[in-house]
Amino acid sequence: LRVAVVFGGRSAEHAISCVSAGSVIAALDPDRYEVVPVGIATDGRWVLADGDQRMAISDGTLPEVTGGTAVSLVGDPEGRGFAVLEPGAAVGRALTEVDVVFPVLHGTFGEDGTIQGLLEMAGLPYVGSGVFASAASMDKEFTKKLLAAAGLPQGDHVVLRDASGAVCPDPGVLDGATRERLGLPVFVKPSRAGSSIGITKVTDWAQFPEAVATAAAVDPKVIVEAAVPGREIECGVLAARGNGLPESSLPAEIRLRPGTDWYDFAAKYLDDAVDFDVPADLSPEQTAAVQDAARRAYLALDCRGLARVDFFLGTSPDGGDLLVINEVNTMPGFTPISMFPRMWAASGVSYPELVDRLIASALT
Ligand code: DAL
Ligand code: MG
Repeated sequence: LRVAVVFGGRSAEHAISCVSAGSVIAALDPDRYEVVPVGIATDGRWVLADGDQRMAISDGTLPEVTGGTAVSLVGDPEGRGFAVLEPGAAVGRALTEVDVVFPVLHGTFGEDGTIQGLLEMAGLPYVGSGVFASAASMDKEFTKKLLAAAGLPQGDHVVLRDASGAVCPDPGVLDGATRERLGLPVFVKPSRAGSSIGITKVTDWAQFPEAVATAAAVDPKVIVEAAVPGREIECGVLAARGNGLPESSLPAEIRLRPGTDWYDFAAKYLDDAVDFDVPADLSPEQTAAVQDAARRAYLALDCRGLARVDFFLGTSPDGGDLLVINEVNTMPGFTPISMFPRMWAASGVSYPELVDRLIASALT
């Protein structure tokens, strides 16, 4: 089977995608799969990656798609959609024909429904969610609306909009009453981003204007979320093998080490700042509640193939558990330290089995 692993891309998570793709490629059994590594440079150029392509973080330096043979997507004259062509190649002479695409892309132009639309038009099967679920899960505002419609619990939040309702990255549009309601700290986030890029934890409203500017540099739609004090829990979801319900992995917990304030980009990938408990130390009831909510979130957003659902587990005013969904990732990180593959390994699905299952689900 020929698998195009597409990675890099134009989003701020370019480097993380390269690292994720490196792990995915390493897990694909060479006896069963022929990998076609297609990199997308930060300026949007597509290349067939060569042996020089670095796919790991080394000495704190992030990888980036650079060299490789330029390729382009061109309409196939026989009307079967697109093929990967060398520039200038005779139309219809595909450099590579592939059976399935694994878009290991995070963020904009990758995890947001855009490449999924391209692949739909090309008639190429691909791993993961379709156009709608990808777009809805990428945008924190719409993720929350759909989760709310399904009755799933989430934290208080506000999208910055002006009086006309238009998205407006101006800190002044958040009035005093709303500030009081949200309380401090708040997390100021670009609505459509990932890996904590552009996010600031605001502990004093004096920091708010700068936090809004930081988020707006990534996405003009800025969302302000009330902090949910509690444990940081994640859960993987995989499509069922047959027609049954999707399956949830054992949940995991991210525990910040002393001196780490929150789970930001550096804490995620660069610093030795967190401890991961895979699986999380939860009661059987708590584990079941997380798994059930993760499955329901996956279904509420119409996800396909896989998702990682992120939670906060706090305490409710009556002293019971308060489980809140933070967000849903339709192409979660696959780096060597990423939670999604590790949670599945702890649940009895090894990394090679996981990629097998994902590819099989794309082809059914
Ligand atoms: N957005 C990053 C890759 C994650 O969710 O793991
Ligand atoms: Mg995310």
